[in-house]
Amino acid sequence: MNILVLSGSPRKKGNTDLLVEAFVKGASQKHSVEIISVHDYKVNPCVGCDACFKSESHTCAQKDDMSVVYDKMSHADMLVIASPVYFYGLSAPLKAVIDRFHNPVRDTYHIKKLALLLVGAASLPELFDGILAQYQLCLNFFKLEDAGHVLIRRAHDKGDVKNSNALNEAFEFGKSISSCS
Ligand SMILES: Cc1cc2nc3c(=O)[nH]c(=O)nc-3n(C[C@H](O)[C@H](O)[C@H](O)COP(=O)(O)O)c2cc1C
Repeated sequence: MNILVLSGSPRKKGNTDLLVEAFVKGASQKHSVEIISVHDYKVNPCVGCDACFKSESHTCAQKDDMSVVYDKMSHADMLVIASPVYFYGLSAPLKAVIDRFHNPVRDTYHIKKLALLLVGAASLPELFDGILAQYQLCLNFFKLEDAGHVLIRRAHDKGDVKNSNALNEAFEFGKSISSCS
């Protein structure tokens, strides 16, 4: 499979990046994996103009780096969303990319599976509940198979994920990803 990882932390070599790196190490044993670190792309929030729904070409009215993301999405069989928890949600640039999936071009994609990698500082049992609810609703909406998730608590400072089994968990999760049925 072609796996595309949308990675949402602005902190280079931070906990999200380390989790993604471990996941990719495992997944690339069997699959081709590409990472988009969304902070390296200039993607504006969706403005809700619906121009993409009205035009035959489904071209977005905004001219920014989302065109590159759309192109990479068109080659993907599986999508992985990786994010730090920011106020119980995904990071804003990642949400901006996801909102731009509000475009009929998404119906031309052949993505079948979705997975989630999350990291937050708190130890709260309910830390990921908001994101998991949104994740489940998106799985239903896009009729995608849930490939699973890695959820890491108690990681605040850069590199904290190295102090637990988190990276091994992400590596093993990556290794366990099977092709679409
Ligand atoms: C703007 C902001 C909001 C955050 N909100 C939360 C939060 O709601 N819950 C939490 O547990 N951690 C929160 N954190 C902490 C980060 O999730 C945590 O430091 C994480 O390890 C950062 O990952 P990174 O190193 O990949 O950037 C927040 C951090 C920032 C900068």
